[in-house]
Amino acid sequence: MKESLILIVEPERGALAELTQCFAGDYQVVGARTGKEASDFLETSEVDVILSNLRFKDMSGLDLFAQSRVTQPEAVRILVAEHKDLENINRDINDAAIYQVIRKPWHPTALRLMVRRALESRELSRRHRYLNRALKFSDAIWDKEIDTNQPSPRQSLEFDKLVFVSEPMMRVCSLAQRGAVTDLPILIQGETGTGKELLARAVHAFSKRRDNLFLVQNCGALPDELLQSELFGHKRGAFTGAISDRLGLFPAADGGTVFLDEISDVSPAFQVSLLRFLQEGEVKPIGTERTRKCNVRVIAASNRPLKGLVESGEFRRDLYYRLRGFELNLPALRERVEDIPVLAEHLANRYAESIGRRIPGIALDVMRRLKVHTWTGNVRELENEMRRMVALAENGEFLSTKHLSEELAVIEDPRSTADLSSAQRSLMNSGATLKETVERIERQLVSQSLIRNKWNHSKSARELGLSRVGLTNKIKRYGLEQVLTRAHSAGGENVD
Ligand SMILES: Nc1ncnc2c1ncn2[C@@H]1O[C@H](COP(=O)(O)OP(=O)(O)OP(=O)(O)O)[C@@H](O)[C@H]1O
Ligand SMILES: [Mg+2]
Repeated sequence: MKESLILIVEPERGALAELTQCFAGDYQVVGARTGKEASDFLETSEVDVILSNLRFKDMSGLDLFAQSRVTQPEAVRILVAEHKDLENINRDINDAAIYQVIRKPWHPTALRLMVRRALESRELSRRHRYLNRALKFSDAIWDKEIDTNQPSPRQSLEFDKLVFVSEPMMRVCSLAQRGAVTDLPILIQGETGTGKELLARAVHAFSKRRDNLFLVQNCGALPDELLQSELFGHKRGAFTGAISDRLGLFPAADGGTVFLDEISDVSPAFQVSLLRFLQEGEVKPIGTERTRKCNVRVIAASNRPLKGLVESGEFRRDLYYRLRGFELNLPALRERVEDIPVLAEHLANRYAESIGRRIPGIALDVMRRLKVHTWTGNVRELENEMRRMVALAENGEFLSTKHLSEELAVIEDPRSTADLSSAQRSLMNSGATLKETVERIERQLVSQSLIRNKWNHSKSARELGLSRVGLTNKIKRYGLEQVLTRAHSAGGENVD
């Protein structure tokens, strides 16, 4: 289990040392003596407990707590205060989301016990939320048992090797589970790198065929004759180069599943053969007249929506309907931003483990950048980024902005664009007028809100405190729709 991290904010050197001593050994402890030091740390690192004094030179502990609710919604906030101060802060306790107040002088045993109980109770409520979601995700029987003794750091859900938290993925995986237990063909569509093959494997693992073979054929890579012979087999001498009999993939996978990747690329002649196979359930190896029954479930995948190809006459309508016994559409990563943190952590940990490196976590400002990137290569692109970051990090080091690839490092931190000090900085540095700077920031805030809300104007308008008409005017004024559409289709960055 990851060691919990406690941030102690205490201006007096002696008192800070005493508090640090109280937790040393059992927890990771970081100390800060000013509000600024503490805020800077909270900007980049995820902490489990914030233990703070009521006053420091530059800020009050209550303000620090209230601020930290945005960056650290799950942290346990504990205030250490004098008895006489408690009277005056009653009103602010809710705003600051304080879990507990400790009176000075505190006793180390009582303080340690309280922190332990607070972390336990947080873990219980996380687990409760996690189980609720899991229950909602599916009432089908899980083939992976939930181990309730394990902490659930971000309550991610899993379907075989797929990891996610977002509603759209929950819906797709739930449908996939329902499809898996039938024996119908399944069509999986989604942009490159969205996890189509992983989902196909999950469907196989969840079906009654799980103990038999799962074989993969990439249909885009082979000329027609070779593809036919790969799948259906051939007799020795059936064509030039057929120097021996070959058992096709379909008969080889008898009782199991065959995954046909890039199905949109196959020729009209192959489409006819495949349709016949799906209808009859038998194969006729090239060069023979003998047919052979084989019981195979077909899962097909495509990067391009087949429906469009059917409309344009490039793909047979009857085959399309055969293949989509169940149709599963995997959303692009930018349409499920909530999945990015859990995927980033999962992929970083998986790679770190494989090369024997320990990575304690990912800095929050890195996460913010990951969340606004467009990810045209979807989860595969994120996987490459995380591998690169882990490879650059030292053993035991947090993944921070210095490990980001250039493409991501140039993204402005979405949070810093919203705070006033950054506005001041940019005003001073760029020589722009106040009006220009304010407009630039306004444009960023509006575009980020639109991305976050997937272009749902009502939600963004509510979030930004604008009327719908007001929002439409701003979109027009800053040319946002145009810029974003272009950025997406060209695979570029989000608007600046
Ligand atoms: N939800 C997920 N959880 C964990 N890993 C994922 C997830 N989705 C994708 N991946 C990982 O991302 C990579 C790409 O996934 P996959 O090969 O299944 O995508 P694909 O849609 O088949 O891509 P392509 O269209 O390019 O063939 C794989 O390494 C896979 O393990
Ligand atoms: Mg694939």
